[in-house]
Amino acid sequence: MKLTDLKIPILQAPMGGIDCIELAAAVSNAGGMGSLAMTWTEPVAAAEMVLRLKAKTNSPFFVNFVISYPPVSFDAVIEADVPAITLSWGQNPELIERAHRRGIPVGVQVGTVEGARIAIDDGADFVICQGIEAGGHVQSTTTLETLLRQVVELGRNVPVVAAGGMADGADIRWAIGKGATAVMLGTRFVATQESRAHPLYKEAIVNSTGADTSYTLCFDGGWPYAAHRVLRNETLRRWEAAGCPPNGSRPGEGDVVARDSSGTEMHRYSVSPPQASTTGEVMECCQYAGLGTSKITDIPSAIDLVPRLWNECKIME
Ligand SMILES: Cc1cc2nc3c(=O)[nH]c(=O)nc-3n(C[C@H](O)[C@H](O)[C@H](O)COP(=O)(O)O)c2cc1C
Repeated sequence: MKLTDLKIPILQAPMGGIDCIELAAAVSNAGGMGSLAMTWTEPVAAAEMVLRLKAKTNSPFFVNFVISYPPVSFDAVIEADVPAITLSWGQNPELIERAHRRGIPVGVQVGTVEGARIAIDDGADFVICQGIEAGGHVQSTTTLETLLRQVVELGRNVPVVAAGGMADGADIRWAIGKGATAVMLGTRFVATQESRAHPLYKEAIVNSTGADTSYTLCFDGGWPYAAHRVLRNETLRRWEAAGCPPNGSRPGEGDVVARDSSGTEMHRYSVSPPQASTTGEVMECCQYAGLGTSKITDIPSAIDLVPRLWNECKIME
């Protein structure tokens, strides 16, 4: 699998709790590259998901591991012969080597030029530059423009993927013009028919602008000290009004604001975003979104969205 072989150079970002087989299959079948976040999935389920996705598409897709956590399902997805893997939040040459032994390419998401250099030295087949504009957990403290320029200037002959704050054809055209081989969009795909996001979360993305997002440490229940970009909501406002106190003394910390499909409690500061099956005060849960939310005005099917974005990009040529 080579990024340059993609019919449409658009990757769907792995999105814990939000991506799903239907979304990944739609993106891949449309000519882009879908993905599944596997960090928090047990091995048997992970292998099964890879096989189920393979049954729905003959086109390439990838799975992702946030390596701040033990990659418990890494061997399982390799055994299932996943087409590609990405790593984020760290470097691990041993994992890259294990995938390469089975002929599986590995991309590494980075937030610094030093991270890109290490990833390439470790054998990464592509690097994903994540700018601070990104939705979800944000490794970067640099704008995408600066990071992309620095990584392209490394001139190491490894495809570079641009991510963070992009949501329309003009963004894609801009990134390719700056030397990116492909782009990776997250927030744009939250607001699609196929995503597992709660309908109110999708609607909130459509109705918000970049100014309605914050880069914060607020929602750290389950993943402390990792910055993230979310839509501003009541939980965030109350925490800020209290002076952004640390874990243990935050307002409403013990509140159960919602429940997931199995009835499990979701606490106010949980890192889990609300899914279609979540019940309760879903708007008080964290809702990841990047600065590109300004340009998202609808909730299409990903099958239509991928070629539409590509056409928008090409029309500008
Ligand atoms: C809801 C959501 C969940 C995410 N989960 C993950 C994840 O599990 N692993 C990961 O590497 N990145 C994750 N990200 C970050 C993406 O990899 C990507 O960098 C980001 O979505 C790009 O910015 P954009 O959302 O502005 O397009 C997530 C992003 C969002 C919006």
